[in-house]
Formats: sequence, C-alpha cells, structure tokens
Amino acid sequence: MHIDIHNLSFAYGHKTVIQNLSLSLASGDYLVVRGKNGSGKTTLIKCLLGFNPVGSGMIFFDHQDINNFNNWTKFGYVSQKFEDFNYEYPVTVDEFLYIYSLKGKNQSKRLKFLDQLGILEIVNENINNLSGGQLQRVFIARAMLNDPQILILDEPTASIDKLNTQYFYKTVNELHSQGITIILITHNDSLDNMNYTHILSMYQDLTFAFQSREKVEKEEE
Ligand SMILES: Nc1ncnc2c1ncn2[C@@H]1O[C@H](COP(=O)(O)OP(=O)(O)OP(=O)(O)O)[C@@H](O)[C@H]1O
Ligand SMILES: [Mg+2]
Repeated sequence: MHIDIHNLSFAYGHKTVIQNLSLSLASGDYLVVRGKNGSGKTTLIKCLLGFNPVGSGMIFFDHQDINNFNNWTKFGYVSQKFEDFNYEYPVTVDEFLYIYSLKGKNQSKRLKFLDQLGILEIVNENINNLSGGQLQRVFIARAMLNDPQILILDEPTASIDKLNTQYFYKTVNELHSQGITIILITHNDSLDNMNYTHILSMYQDLTFAFQSREKVEKEEE
C-alpha cells in the first residue's frame, strides 16, 4: 500500500506540533522516524492511524483519502504506551495472542514469533505477571501475527535489553524482506541492524528531513 502525506499540519489546541510535513512511501519501504522527545513522532503516527484528525493537509493510502479509508486491519500497530496494561482475566501469553489473532489461529505461528523475539519460555505465563520488556515483545508478536501490510512500531525497544533488541531488529528485517512496509520510531537505536530504506528526522522547531537511504549514506561519506 502506498502512503502519501501532503502538507500535513497538526496542533493540540494552539500548540502546533506538525507543520507542512510531506512524505511518500511505496509498498515494502522501511521508514525510520527519528527525533528528540517532543518533536512530534508519536503525534504523526496517530495522524496516520486516524486517532488524530488531520488538521490541514491530506493523507492518502493507495490514493484513497484517509477520511474514506476503512481497511485498518492492514495495519499492525504497537503504541509507545502499554505499561499500564492489565488484562481482565489471568490468561496465558499464548491464550492472549490467540484471542487477538485476526488471522491464522494456529499455535505454531505464535510460537515462531515468540521464539524469534526471545520470549518462547514465557508462552504459558500469566499475561499480567510479565516484566515491561516481556510485555512489550508480546505486543510486538501480537501485531506481527495478524499479517499486517504495514507494521508501525513506536519506540519498540524502549524496555528491551541489548541482546533482545538485536533479535528484534532481525525479526523486523525478516518481515520487511517478505514485503511488509515498516514504520519504526526510535530516538537512539543504531541504524546498523536495520534494513531501512528511508529516514524521517523531525526537529523541535517543526522542520523535518525525509531522505532515502542512498541520500543519507552519501551525506555521511
Ligand atoms: N494529547 C496531547 N495533548 C496536548 N499536547 C500533546 C498531546 N500529546 C502530545 N502533546 C505534545 O505534542 C508534542 C509532541 O509530542 P509527541 O508525543 O508526538 O512527541 P514524540 O516525538 O513522540 O516524543 P517522545 O520521543 O517523548 O515519545 C509534545 O510537546 C507534547 O507535549
Ligand atoms: Mg513518542
């Protein structure tokens, strides 16, 4: 799915957070969004997912205006805030993933993602007893399980240790190589392990830079 953002602006009340931002992604691109705290990264994602109504400007998915778009199951999303999560029943990790699987309820698929993310050993643990980093990876597995065309991850490694962060980026690269579009927000993870194709840098003065990987690497030479 093509994503086109045209001159997007967004404000919370009188506070403008995004100003005249434009970018285009083709199917299968891998965008890394970088920027300091408060530069508007999460706000942009929330515009893209329809949680924040577009102030001015336009967003298109395959040339369809976001206001007419209703194919949201194509998106997998792991939000930045999940730590206050508490499931209403004491289900296991496996049961939790089963309940939230829109597609393919076969256990082998769930076990594969848990293994790739380094949390296979917690498959039968109570979902409400996990550490922050374990829970974050369960949410990532949940988003991956639903065969998204576009996977959006907001600071996905914030609670994950170094080794598991490496596993995680490998798994993202594998999904990307299968043709899934990736949009990944991070403020300090190294780009070394990412097969990214584009970078969006957002700055606190409301300016931004959207660049292809070739351009980024040329500038670094
Ligand atoms: N619901 C809200 N109401 C009012 N202001 C908000 C709201 N959400 C975010 N903001 C403000 O908008 C600005 C951008 O916030 P945003 O969460 O998009 O930044 P971010 O780049 O994701 O930061 P971080 O790296 O800390 O996650 C901040 O100044 C923040 O205070
Ligand atoms: Mg954020």
